[in-house]
Amino acid sequence: MTTKILVTGGAGFIGSAYVRHLLSPRAPQAVAVTVLDKLTYAGSLARLDAVRDHPGLTFVQGDVCDASLADTLAAHHDEIVHFAAESHVDRSIADSGAFTRTNVLGTQVLLDAALRRGVRTFVHISTDEVYGSLPYGAARESDPLLPTSPYAASKAASDLMALAHHRTHGLDVRVTRCSNNFGPHQHPEKLIPRFLAGLLSGGTVPLYGDGQHVRDWLHVDDHVRAVELVRMSGRPGEI
Ligand SMILES: NC(=O)c1ccc[n+]([C@@H]2O[C@H](COP(=O)([O-])OP(=O)(O)OC[C@H]3O[C@@H](n4cnc5c(N)ncnc54)[C@H](O)[C@@H]3O)[C@@H](O)[C@H]2O)c1
Repeated sequence: MTTKILVTGGAGFIGSAYVRHLLSPRAPQAVAVTVLDKLTYAGSLARLDAVRDHPGLTFVQGDVCDASLADTLAAHHDEIVHFAAESHVDRSIADSGAFTRTNVLGTQVLLDAALRRGVRTFVHISTDEVYGSLPYGAARESDPLLPTSPYAASKAASDLMALAHHRTHGLDVRVTRCSNNFGPHQHPEKLIPRFLAGLLSGGTVPLYGDGQHVRDWLHVDDHVRAVELVRMSGRPGEI
């Protein structure tokens, strides 16, 4: 039977890569995909060009905070993979309102709709930024959440809200906390495209701190394969 998957933020950098993966000829499972995306400055339908004519794709322009829309969509889908978010750290420092609204309220609206409508699985895409900066090494799933930016704080709140829906209501919620992504179709405001564009045009790039900080980077296609592994084989309530 065809699994019906609602992908929020599917016109964004990572969500669109996930949708292209789900609808690729090599995909192991027959799926029908509905993309729910508000098409903010960060969203672009061009990222879905490769699958635009796929019969399994439906696009809905809308807001994850719209409870009535979320309810209608949840009623017609088996699973939700939730990427939609305000995602740019620097913007959250300038103005955190949209981050609280979309990332926290929008996630809660979707979770409640999923619960009400009996959605089978809810994959919540969180971020390693919920752990804050580490002096060395890697975070463990059980480490305390110590977000440092308003973006990371809003993602931590939504992450915990998602896990609470599992613990309180038994909803099958699975959370991923990935490191920074890079790859095709990334918005030029993000670090790697911005640095590359700046350097290629002969400019300089800003250095954060004393230049000694270390960051983990993952190619978006690897992230997408991991999300798919979690959707198909992950365990409820796990990170
Ligand atoms: N980019 C990274 O390095 C990274 C790393 C780890 C986790 N994440 C998480 O992955 C997810 C996707 O990140 P991204 O880099 O693809 O982000 P992005 O900014 O490229 O895409 C976000 C998408 O969400 C849509 N959107 C924003 N507000 C919305 C709303 N209210 N309703 C519906 N749609 C809305 C935008 O139009 C856009 O298409 C986010 O949840 C982010 O926190 C990102």
